[in-house]
Amino acid sequence: MRMDPQELLSLCKRRGFLWPAYDIYGSVAGLYDYGPLGAALKNNIEDHWRRLYVQGEGFQEISCPIVAPEPVFKASGHVDAFSDMYVECTKCGETFRADHLAAGLHANPASLGEDELGKMLRESGVLCPECGGGLTAPKRFNLMFKTSIGAGRGKTAYLRPETAQGMFVNFSQVYRYGREKLPVGAVQIGRAFRNEISPRQGLIRLRELNMMEAELFVHPEDKSWPKFRDVRAEVVPLVPNKGPPSSVALEEAVKAGVIRNEVLAYFMWLTYKFALDIGLDPKRLRFRQHESTEMAHYASDCWDLEAEIGYGWTELVGVADRGCFDVKAHLDHSGADLTSFERYDEPREVEMEVVKPNFGALGPLFKDKSKLIAEALSKLPAEAAKDQDKVTVDVEGEALVVPSSCYEVSKRKEKVSGRKLVPHVIEPSYGVDRLLFSLLDHVYSKKDEYIVLRLKGLVAPIKVGVFPLMARDGLGEIATSIFDSLVKAGIAAYYDDSGSIGRRYARMDEIGTPCCVTVDYDTKSDGTVTVRDRDSAEQVRVKKEEVAEVVKALISGASFESLRSPQD
Ligand code: ATP
Ligand code: GLY
Repeated sequence: MRMDPQELLSLCKRRGFLWPAYDIYGSVAGLYDYGPLGAALKNNIEDHWRRLYVQGEGFQEISCPIVAPEPVFKASGHVDAFSDMYVECTKCGETFRADHLAAGLHANPASLGEDELGKMLRESGVLCPECGGGLTAPKRFNLMFKTSIGAGRGKTAYLRPETAQGMFVNFSQVYRYGREKLPVGAVQIGRAFRNEISPRQGLIRLRELNMMEAELFVHPEDKSWPKFRDVRAEVVPLVPNKGPPSSVALEEAVKAGVIRNEVLAYFMWLTYKFALDIGLDPKRLRFRQHESTEMAHYASDCWDLEAEIGYGWTELVGVADRGCFDVKAHLDHSGADLTSFERYDEPREVEMEVVKPNFGALGPLFKDKSKLIAEALSKLPAEAAKDQDKVTVDVEGEALVVPSSCYEVSKRKEKVSGRKLVPHVIEPSYGVDRLLFSLLDHVYSKKDEYIVLRLKGLVAPIKVGVFPLMARDGLGEIATSIFDSLVKAGIAAYYDDSGSIGRRYARMDEIGTPCCVTVDYDTKSDGTVTVRDRDSAEQVRVKKEEVAEVVKALISGASFESLRSPQD
């Protein structure tokens, strides 16, 4: 049974995972604060991701500014195309995503134009879901937050709607740092901003969100991946855009062309592994391939990892083959050389077209400038001059128009050591907030009003609760010294000596603490403490000196059973 997201949100608020931001001023839809437990859970999710991508796969972690000047997003296509359509209620003034109101009326309403969508909503009699009032015609709304850099007229700028662009514009730096070899990858973990039209779904649709994105730059003609061999027999649940859902080995899906290439398949597997590692329920996960009408303009194949949660199937991660779109766009707009260089094993003789200055014509026309113009002409790419009746060259800051009689485009044989390539990009793009909220949904369980979050030790904000049975008779001192030793060992522990022991366990169960250690009167006589397992509520006794080791083992996934000594 799907859980009620409101119930989960209220637990999150009560226990310090999430708070509506700026609550004392009435809060703002789409903005949330992470409380202490939420912030710790988020950090643990991000740390594990970092372990997989940076340590495990060798990606370079970088951190770019959140604000960027307009040309960045002009080049990326966001200024012109990062928009959704909205309609406004003529009675209550509420705004709604127009495509969301058309869900069920069309397979992919977001792919329709304003007029078509407006006609569909009108003819289907769709009214304001809040008050039943009439709706305006759909209008496009750019989702980026606009700002300006500097005083006076300043420079138009935007808050980034994804972290990706920082990595694309830095391709040359990343490539150089990676010793000028492909494939090479960068990752970034950080905030992104989207001025969503009607964020009504808690952490699922935020206006300020947290992303973990990886951009892998690969050779455009080679999307094989050596490590794919290790995972080719793995099975992930696929919902392809053609044909029925299937659970087949990744190798089979690549061979059948269902998944475009090995790199994409490998990173889908890594995404799936990450999801299972942090504790999402495999029975409620799937990869859905984008329909061709749904695919972003740059993508040649895209799969979303979706989770089934209280809000229905929800996208958590997008894994896309973005082709050369991004790097090429920044290369074209900035003029920077964002290419990689493929060195041939042996130099090759190639026929090249070059621009050859005609000194006989240049001299009389341009006099003492003709030498500099000739130099500028020889540097022009042949395509810029071919079949043109004139070209413009820059000579000492002056733009000079040179007629075609002053040059010719001719063929020349040359030995070259390699070629320049614009890399392709494979991008796994993770939404931290949606992962976190879906995880809480999947691990939440409630029986007779008793709530347990079955969070894995890997991500649990607090790994162990430490309680003296009573605060008196020296039990508090022993428990405090155990707590101190846990903290020293780098384990997030929580000390609690108030209220009944049952209530203390319940508090820890409700926030997902995997185990608790209790100091009782036997501790004073035999030096052992009770370790209680959250999920089974079973207990074992261990020596108090061994608590840190035992907790560490449990956090790294050891079963509670394995702690039992034969005499238990
Ligand atoms: P949707 O179609 O649900 O709006 P999207 O396709 O625009 O999502 P992407 O642009 O692919 O999402 O962003 C990558 C990831 O960032 C998503 O998989 C999701 O986890 C997260 N994400 C995107 N928009 C939001 C948002 N407004 N609030 C929270 N997370 C988001
Ligand atoms: N970088 C993926 C996206 O936000 O679309």
